Amino acid sequence: MESLKEKILIDGIALSEDVLKVDSFLNHQLDPELMVDIGKEFAKRVEGGKKVTKILTIEASGIAAALTTGLELGVPVLFARKKKSITMTDDNYVSQVYSFTKKEESDITVAKRFLNEDDHVLIVDDFLARGAAAFGLISIVEQAGASLAGVGIIIEKAFQDGGTKLREAGHPVYSLVRIQSLEKGKVYFVEEE
Ligand code: G4P
Ligand code: NA
Ligand code: NA
Repeated sequence: MESLKEKILIDGIALSEDVLKVDSFLNHQLDPELMVDIGKEFAKRVEGGKKVTKILTIEASGIAAALTTGLELGVPVLFARKKKSITMTDDNYVSQVYSFTKKEESDITVAKRFLNEDDHVLIVDDFLARGAAAFGLISIVEQAGASLAGVGIIIEKAFQDGGTKLREAGHPVYSLVRIQSLEKGKVYFVEEE
């Protein structure tokens, strides 16, 4: 997605060789027009396949793109909670996600009444690094007996192993941009065909 690459080159900051800061349009402040374009792009990637019935993401930074994707596909947007809400008195699907940055396990939770075996789910998230969040969300889809349309990722860090692990497990991954490396403060994209 060319407009996203340009945005990253102009506004992204390579904080280190592993971490890209994009808080001016994705992780803190949001660019609404870009989010709408991202939603359209994810919708295009699943066009022609089995009809998606639900978008699933994880709070917080996945929600904006999940919303615009759901708007485009005309389906509800469900976000897994990291902290159980006091109103979550229902039966829940729970999955453990290990955070490499925080070096701790945490539970993510989705109420059972919002996801079932009739659903065909498109997962959306902002970053793909080691894939912990994506596999946690896939586990929730599996617990529900639902099927997976794929995993839509805004920025895949291709030098980390999440993308490889997801593809090896047979899950379709739709990454809008793939980063090859972050070296000396510069962003290098994977050259696509
Ligand atoms: P993983 O799910 O792919 O294994 O990634 P990891 O545990 O490393 O990621 C933990 C958090 O850091 C996630 O956000 C993820 O989106 C974010 N993250 C990973 N790599 C980058 C990066 O290069 N740049 C930025 N800006 N974020 C990155 P989170 O803690 O769940 O927070 P939230 O933003 O969704 O609230
Ligand atoms: Na994030
Ligand atoms: Na995220």
